[in-house]
Amino acid sequence: MLKIAVLVSGGGTNLQAIIDAVKSHKLTNVSIECVVSNKPDAYALTRAEDNGIPGVCIRPKDYKDKAAYGEYLAQYLTEYGIDLVVLAGFLVVLPENFIDAFEGRIINIHPSLIPSFCGEGFYGLKVHESALSRGVKVTGATVHFVDRGCDTGPIILQKAVSVQEGDTPEILQKRVMEQAEWIILPQAIQLIADKHKN
Ligand code: GRF
Repeated sequence: MLKIAVLVSGGGTNLQAIIDAVKSHKLTNVSIECVVSNKPDAYALTRAEDNGIPGVCIRPKDYKDKAAYGEYLAQYLTEYGIDLVVLAGFLVVLPENFIDAFEGRIINIHPSLIPSFCGEGFYGLKVHESALSRGVKVTGATVHFVDRGCDTGPIILQKAVSVQEGDTPEILQKRVMEQAEWIILPQAIQLIADKHKN
């Protein structure tokens, strides 16, 4: 059984996609052990509670510095016996000590086809605003391993989505979520679960 923790900051629709995939048995050999948010009011925590998954808010500002936050978070997840950390709309830049503690065991969903529209400052709607202003005809989503860089780790899965006439950033974001993110994130977790030896 692959034990996962999902780190969130917002609405949690990607978390919901994972929950639904586990519940419908589309995603097998995976257990969502806990959800961690840096925002106490993140609706993702409500989704966790509604589905009987332990949720907690761990805020960087409650620690003396980033390293202390990273150390606590790593210890917290280690005590949960977490095998894989899933960043699903998590907006905190994780400190190196955390990345090192979970090296090769952290994945992230990014709402573009990396290497386009990624890196510093590219998150949420900003990604789709940039895609629209560049005039790309195709965008999509990427699941990648997290390394010490920003959106630079090895790519696991990608899925393309068409940009349509009249798209606003909000319309495009919704299409990328529905047609790409919510599909490839559970798929990527399944790929890792299939290789996981208990
Ligand atoms: C998604 O667009 C995801 O690609 C990005 O942040 C957003 C999170 O949305 N990383 P949600 O909280 O999963 O609804």
